[in-house]
Amino acid sequence: MSILVTGGCGYIGSHTVVELLNLGKEVVIVDDLSNASAKVVDRIEEITGKRPSFYQQDVVDKDGLRSIFKKEQIEASIHFAAFKAVGESVQKPGAYYENNIMSILSLVEVMAEFDVKKIVFSSSATVYGSLNPSPYKEDMPVGVPTSPYGQTKVMCEQILRDIYISDNNWSISLLRYFNPIGAHESGLIGEDPSGIPNNLMPFIAQVAVGKREFLNIFGDDYETQDGTCVRDYIHVVDLAKGHVKALDKLNQAPDVYTYNLGSGQGTSVLELVHTFVAVTGVDIPYKMAPRRAGDLASFYANADKALADLNWKTEKSIEDMCRDTWNWQSKNPNGYENQ
Ligand code: UFG
Repeated sequence: MSILVTGGCGYIGSHTVVELLNLGKEVVIVDDLSNASAKVVDRIEEITGKRPSFYQQDVVDKDGLRSIFKKEQIEASIHFAAFKAVGESVQKPGAYYENNIMSILSLVEVMAEFDVKKIVFSSSATVYGSLNPSPYKEDMPVGVPTSPYGQTKVMCEQILRDIYISDNNWSISLLRYFNPIGAHESGLIGEDPSGIPNNLMPFIAQVAVGKREFLNIFGDDYETQDGTCVRDYIHVVDLAKGHVKALDKLNQAPDVYTYNLGSGQGTSVLELVHTFVAVTGVDIPYKMAPRRAGDLASFYANADKALADLNWKTEKSIEDMCRDTWNWQSKNPNGYENQ
């Protein structure tokens, strides 16, 4: 039996596939490669010695999915495939609602047809919105995210909760990620954003490798210890391991399980920059810039529930995240291209 991983060639998906294969699980990747490279499959094989099945396929296409479910013995799905750029979602809300909502609807419909009723969903801390105080806890009411991207995560969570209400045989895990950074310690897989990176760590990495001149720090007048925004950074390998634990939990009993996957520790933008410089020895020139619309001053997880229920907690430090990001970026200055 196999685990279907949609978006398995993407940043978090690929690291999760590695952890699954390392534990002896069979994996089927479905990815349309709209924001990922097929080379990831080779890299996964290089790391694990095992090659997952791979289908270049849009999850929205139900007939395409059906043919995969006919060929493969799927026991559960982990659904990563989605559009994920917060700023772009403000510019193109229709595309975000269409892709992210249609893909979950298509996936669960085809899963139900094949009587596969276990799913781990890639959600986000953004579902807590701007009014809940940090640390965020799973039993807080879902808030109003500031972007269409965030709204799609709220809606997908709700769709899955409603599916469980309609059919109690489903076993569903909603994983709310905080800020994943870092890369596999091999340096063979990592984050490879297209165009100008939106997120902090990929931008720092591109400054480090000489692709960008300097980092803009968006706001130094927040009510935080040094005036820059505070986030809960989590190493992508810790995050991937959290998926494996969440998947195991689905075998326990049908239910909807909701977990924060974060460290519980806040780190400011300046702290992250200074740690990166200290760990790598590479200077990161930066300039203070105006605040970015929609940014919250500070948020981080209460990670107690994942520890209590899944026996999962983060193990890697901010130093590890910086070292592994640099290892990946310096070995792959252009990501997966031109190699
Ligand atoms: N930042 C900079 N300069 C940059 C990029 C980011 O100063 O070039 C700052 C941001 O202003 C913010 C911090 O770095 O203060 C972190 O920004 P990211 O874009 O890396 O991460 P966000 O916290 O904004 O976004 C993350 C996820 C989203 C999710 C959001 C809310 O990437 O998927 O948290 O939960 F929606």
